[in-house]
Amino acid sequence: MGGYRIYITILVIWMQMTMVQGNCPIAKCTCLDGQPPSNERIIDCREKGLLSVPAINATDEIFQELTLSNAPESNCRGSSPQAKCNRILHISSNTFAGLKVRKIDFSQNYLGSVANDSFSGLETYLTELILEGDDTNLVPFYSLTTLTKLKSLTLERFTLNNNGIEAFHKNLQIWKH
Ligand SMILES: *[C@@H]1O[C@H](CO)[C@@H](O)[C@H](O)[C@H]1NC(C)=O
Ligand SMILES: *[C@@H]1O[C@H](CO)[C@@H](O)[C@H](O)[C@H]1NC(C)=O
Repeated sequence: MGGYRIYITILVIWMQMTMVQGNCPIAKCTCLDGQPPSNERIIDCREKGLLSVPAINATDEIFQELTLSNAPESNCRGSSPQAKCNRILHISSNTFAGLKVRKIDFSQNYLGSVANDSFSGLETYLTELILEGDDTNLVPFYSLTTLTKLKSLTLERFTLNNNGIEAFHKNLQIWKH
């Protein structure tokens, strides 16, 4: 009897481990092992020649980071970028639905437009966000208003107008809570 119970326990633990360390939710990218203490995995989509965020398979696993960046030394913002460079121009509505992730990195991309509800579903998870624009687009503040857990926001190569500044003030009110 005792032996049987131990067997059941081991089976349950094994099943939980395989569920946690499931497939990578983005087929085109690689899931890297995380670092202690959390051991949450990283979805690595660096320099995959992406023109948009690839389809994401919904999962209950919580990821430390999704990185869609290019390395600065790859010169992906130059006039003739290599094929490996990610050049993501647009983030559409509900792009990250079904994903639980703490940090998203769009460094060295060319975001021209970010839909208002791009980040819906990430409200209770996202603490860090890095966006890089195309030098002409306005700061996409409306997309950020629901991200109340955000602790660090990096915005590069966007412009501001009065409406943007007004939206920023509203966001500051939200984030202060
Ligand atoms: C994602 O889901 C589709 C069908 O829903 C499945 O065919 C595919 O294998 C899944 N990809 C991964 C990486 O789990
Ligand atoms: C985004 O939200 C703002 C404020 O509600 C609104 O003025 C704007 O038209 C929205 N943009 C789109 C593309 O729906």
